[in-house]
Amino acid sequence: MRVYLTNAGVVTLLEPANFRGLDVLIDPQAPDQIERAISRIGKREGEGHVRLSPSVLRFLSPHAGEAEWEENFDKMIAYATKAGWVDDSNMVRAHITFAEPQPSITPDVFKAAMRALPAGIAAITTGQGDGRAAFIVSSLVSISAEPPLVGFFANRTVSALPTILAENKFAANVLGTGQEDVVQTMCSAPQGPARFSNGTWLEGKNGLPVLDGALATLECDIISSTTVGTHQFIVGHIRHSSSAEAIHPLVNFNGGVRHLPERLSA
Ligand SMILES: Cc1cc2nc3c(=O)[nH]c(=O)nc-3n(C[C@H](O)[C@H](O)[C@H](O)COP(=O)(O)O)c2cc1C
Repeated sequence: MRVYLTNAGVVTLLEPANFRGLDVLIDPQAPDQIERAISRIGKREGEGHVRLSPSVLRFLSPHAGEAEWEENFDKMIAYATKAGWVDDSNMVRAHITFAEPQPSITPDVFKAAMRALPAGIAAITTGQGDGRAAFIVSSLVSISAEPPLVGFFANRTVSALPTILAENKFAANVLGTGQEDVVQTMCSAPQGPARFSNGTWLEGKNGLPVLDGALATLECDIISSTTVGTHQFIVGHIRHSSSAEAIHPLVNFNGGVRHLPERLSA
């Protein structure tokens, strides 16, 4: 198995059911980023090794708790102990492998491709009264119906992010025709109550700002926040939801806010 320290800030376990070897695979990235990633999983030992707690491997493995995986994992740790790779504090030694640079694309090429992707628009809101914060996303994504989950990606520079994380809850207000000004205000007004000066904002069942007449409002408790590249991926468990019909959604496409054309006849 391989603990993979990606250059997107994500740590994963590759080949979790391969018990014949253990190493730490590191993507090309800045030295301080490498050291921070290593400190998340264990301790560096010299130039070429990392000391890992077996519980880190168990935490990363999607198979932990399955009888067969646990049996093979125990055997692997026993083998490593016999070979002298496990120290007195039960930390196992893993070799570092530096991944070869892979092809990638520039931010401009990325943006050109993403402009081709139509996406709905939502106002993410949090807080109460003078402590309210908000920003606009086109990255709201449906994740799961049971449990009911949605998520969105927030650039870590977004001014509303510290409030969203401190409140640990958010509302996603899906915007429709007639709510273009909400987008405009939320992208230009200073962070805080001024962002709510367009539209009628009510207090939702969870105490979050919800837009009267939004296509849908989803009041959520945050269950995870993960660093992915420049963004935080925030997942919320939907506690309350309402939806309206009869208005058309706003759509972000080719760098602009648009209306969705009529449905094609079947
Ligand atoms: C249509 C549209 C969609 C956007 N989608 C996102 C998004 O999904 N994630 C994000 O971090 N920013 C997104 N932005 C940008 C943020 O809304 C905005 O840049 C952000 O609020 C940063 O400024 P602020 O810190 O003043 O809020 C979007 C902007 C627009 C106009």
